[in-house]
Amino acid sequence: MRTRAAVLYAPHTDYVIEEIELDDPKENEVLVRFVASGMCHSDEHMVTGDMAMDPAIVEMLGWQQYPIILGHEGGGIVEKVGPGVTELAVGDHVVTSFVPSCGRCPSCAKGQQNLCDSGAYLLSGRQADGTARHHLLDGSDVATMCCLGTFAEHSVVNLNSLVKVEPDLPLDKACLVACGVTTGWGSATYAADTEPGDTIVVIGTGGVGMNAVQGAAMAGARHVIALDPVEFKREQAQRFGATHTAATVEEAQALLGELTWGRNADKVIVTVGEGKGADVETYMGMVGKGGKLVFTAVANMNENDVQLNLFMFAMQQKSLVGTIFGSANPRYDIPKLLSLYRSGKLKLDELVTRTYTLDQINQGYQDMRDGINIRGVIVY
Ligand SMILES: NC(=O)c1ccc[n+]([C@@H]2O[C@H](COP(=O)([O-])OP(=O)(O)OC[C@H]3O[C@@H](n4cnc5c(N)ncnc54)[C@H](O)[C@@H]3O)[C@@H](O)[C@H]2O)c1
Ligand SMILES: [Zn+2]
Ligand SMILES: [Zn+2]
Repeated sequence: MRTRAAVLYAPHTDYVIEEIELDDPKENEVLVRFVASGMCHSDEHMVTGDMAMDPAIVEMLGWQQYPIILGHEGGGIVEKVGPGVTELAVGDHVVTSFVPSCGRCPSCAKGQQNLCDSGAYLLSGRQADGTARHHLLDGSDVATMCCLGTFAEHSVVNLNSLVKVEPDLPLDKACLVACGVTTGWGSATYAADTEPGDTIVVIGTGGVGMNAVQGAAMAGARHVIALDPVEFKREQAQRFGATHTAATVEEAQALLGELTWGRNADKVIVTVGEGKGADVETYMGMVGKGGKLVFTAVANMNENDVQLNLFMFAMQQKSLVGTIFGSANPRYDIPKLLSLYRSGKLKLDELVTRTYTLDQINQGYQDMRDGINIRGVIVY
């Protein structure tokens, strides 16, 4: 079938809206008509080139990076199922999970679905079987982000990447739990393991960080300091549970000094747009003895250098942990977060600052760069 998609041909270019050819779903796959897609900063790393791999390695692996249909925060409706699919039926409402989970590998079996072995193919640009369902009209293959490609009216998606949701939930809000909400909320509740009474700093309160703020508040943190240079983000963070805000690290440090009598934060969560190894020591300076620095932000994938004073790291018994998907289990946490939304305990509506049509995607991402959206959402 033909559908419309936003195709990115190369780093540092605009998205181009194109007709593409989409194959029928194969075994374990379904055709999804997207209703909405959040515009996460992770797609932006393919635009800046921070996630562009060495082309020789990409070729050796049989992967494809460009041209690509980005987008991984999707909510949609199943339109067709592949042979043998019984788990989903036509008409089912689904939310994508940017990390696939097979349910069978050792990580899934251990309750760490966010570390599912099928995640090894997240950057392959391909379906789980290594082949492509998406093609440009000249017949050449086009890659998809996280085996999804939600910046398109339709996609063919593996069952591992889909979570069925209740049909009365608004998909233009529910789509955000596909990545940003779960990643931020889980960064605070699981990765940081926020405990009642904790002092938490969230650095960068955009689409992900705002949910780290609401996760930390929900987990009972006493102080939640939202650190963001953008005034609008700081204002909004207070709606999501921030008790204090800071525009700079210096301001946050001064607040921490007063609020904790110099003990500093129990946990600091980094959700800035682009992670930088050079900033780790600065962030770690806000972490108190025995505390933890959670790194959620995505950095340039070729960056290996980290500034960290190892002496103080050891002597003050600090931890530095990374997290993918906020260490959450998609099949458990996506429904759980949507139930919290239904009960009025989790804010989703307030995260959507602006909506766009697919044709307005370049404007949508410019607005993200300009800091005027918590989350922009494409509504099809
Ligand atoms: N680990 C994961 O599984 C995972 C999942 C989703 C997103 N991410 C990553 O999380 C990061 C945040 O994503 P997002 O969609 O919220 O982005 P966003 O652009 O919506 O938000 C980033 C925020 O950081 C702020 N910021 C930028 N530089 C800062 C600085 N030096 N100090 C403080 N604040 C600063 C910006 O003003 C903005 O509010 C990205 O790197 C994204 O790729 C990681
Ligand atoms: Zn698995
Ligand atoms: Zn994302």
